[in-house]
Amino acid sequence: MPDVLRTPPPIATPLITNVVGSRVIVYETITSTNDRALRLGGEGTVIVAETQTAGRGRHGRTWHSAPGMGLYFSVVFERPIEGLAFAAPLAVRDAVGPMVDVAVKWPNDVLIHGRKFCGVLVEARQGRTAVGIGINVHHRAEDFPETLRDRATSIEAASGIHCDRGELLRDVLTRLDERVMVIRSGGIERVFSEWAEACGVVGRRVRGVRCEGIVRAIDPDGALVIDTVAGPQRVLLGEVVELEGT
Ligand code: BTN
Repeated sequence: MPDVLRTPPPIATPLITNVVGSRVIVYETITSTNDRALRLGGEGTVIVAETQTAGRGRHGRTWHSAPGMGLYFSVVFERPIEGLAFAAPLAVRDAVGPMVDVAVKWPNDVLIHGRKFCGVLVEARQGRTAVGIGINVHHRAEDFPETLRDRATSIEAASGIHCDRGELLRDVLTRLDERVMVIRSGGIERVFSEWAEACGVVGRRVRGVRCEGIVRAIDPDGALVIDTVAGPQRVLLGEVVELEGT
């Protein structure tokens, strides 16, 4: 099915940014906003979709994109840029934080009361980099597939507060732009430190797919350094579970 372009964009108040949101293109239906962003390019272009037919997450997973319920969008950059996977969850945390208690979970999920409502996927292709952000906004339990219901939530389900998706999009893009400017002016360490602190995982006992131990540090590339009985191990990809009592 061809993508259907919807106008006008859903942001009611003006977006005042430096790079992010140089143009905003909204689709009713699209395969994946990351795909479209990487194909189209244009520094700071934002692709938003009401739903995705092939929305994807990390590790080849599917990102369930219930129509009209969430914010599914990607921002593309033409010049190489590091640290988007740190900047994006912080931008979402700061935008949603005034409504409800949110936490960043290593590596780049955002949770409310221990349940995931936002995921981030950074992908690069032919010199372009896209950061894709999926946020569950209006979802009720029944809007999630059964397999996700005990792990997923939405801003409204968790807070009971009405959340305007256009306003939220503007807020996240504005906060992302601020951090992109910090990164572009040589401040990647500042964004990294803020993200590492927000993850709150150093000193905690965790279990990954292949190891278990106490997290000693987070390396500058985002990898966990875990002290295990077999010595220190680095975990860059994958999930870890925090274990009780640490
Ligand atoms: C994850 O938690 O595994 C990452 C999920 C990222 C989902 C977003 S939705 C917008 C963008 N387009 C995609 O296909 N994926 C990302």
